[in-house]
Amino acid sequence: MKFFADTADVAEIAELAATGLIDGVTTNPSLVAKTGRPFLDVIAEICRLVPGPVSAEVTATDHQGMLREAGHLLEVASNVCIKVPLTLDGLKACRALADRGAKVNVTLCFSPAQAILAAKAGAAFVSPFVGRLDDVGHEGMRLVADILEIYRNYPATFRTEVLVASIRHPGHVVEAARLGADVATMPPSVIRQLVRHPLTDKGLEGFLADWAKTGQRIG
Ligand code: G3P
Repeated sequence: MKFFADTADVAEIAELAATGLIDGVTTNPSLVAKTGRPFLDVIAEICRLVPGPVSAEVTATDHQGMLREAGHLLEVASNVCIKVPLTLDGLKACRALADRGAKVNVTLCFSPAQAILAAKAGAAFVSPFVGRLDDVGHEGMRLVADILEIYRNYPATFRTEVLVASIRHPGHVVEAARLGADVATMPPSVIRQLVRHPLTDKGLEGFLADWAKTGQRIG
């Protein structure tokens, strides 16, 4: 399972990239807006920090505009992955970009029907938003299970990877892995939460206290 960092904060990405646990990055216009920095500069910096795909989202809503913006984004670095919304224009742009060999992440997916269309449009990734579905009383992970089940019926033609997005807590990551999702993209805070367990902290404290009593040093 691949881990992507869902942030446009370059300092956070640099810190996480150094752990070797991060395979890519996803951004969206809201995350870029939070940085207060020019979009293309931010994407260029992230692409230098992480060799894997870096999703950069178009903001045009018409297919021609999306393709024009995608052209600029693709010039930034070879690991840019174009993010388009799950609309008819987005799907049309996805098909055109995929035919040119570009990687596309079709985002804002909230139904299995939409995910089928993303695969048919040649998306490299489809992003079901689990947290936002949970927020409105639906079961986000049910959507992930449905998409995986459908895609597995067409291994030769549906090559789209399921990128679980809008992750809010470690339970989402574990469930996504249990289902066999290809990628989980998560805020840095969730990546850090995954590490922590109170029994690990307590156990380490005990080991170090006992070690100190020996008066020994390694090396
Ligand atoms: O990158 C898109 C997605 O992960 C957004 O998450 O928390 O704003 O629903 P959230």
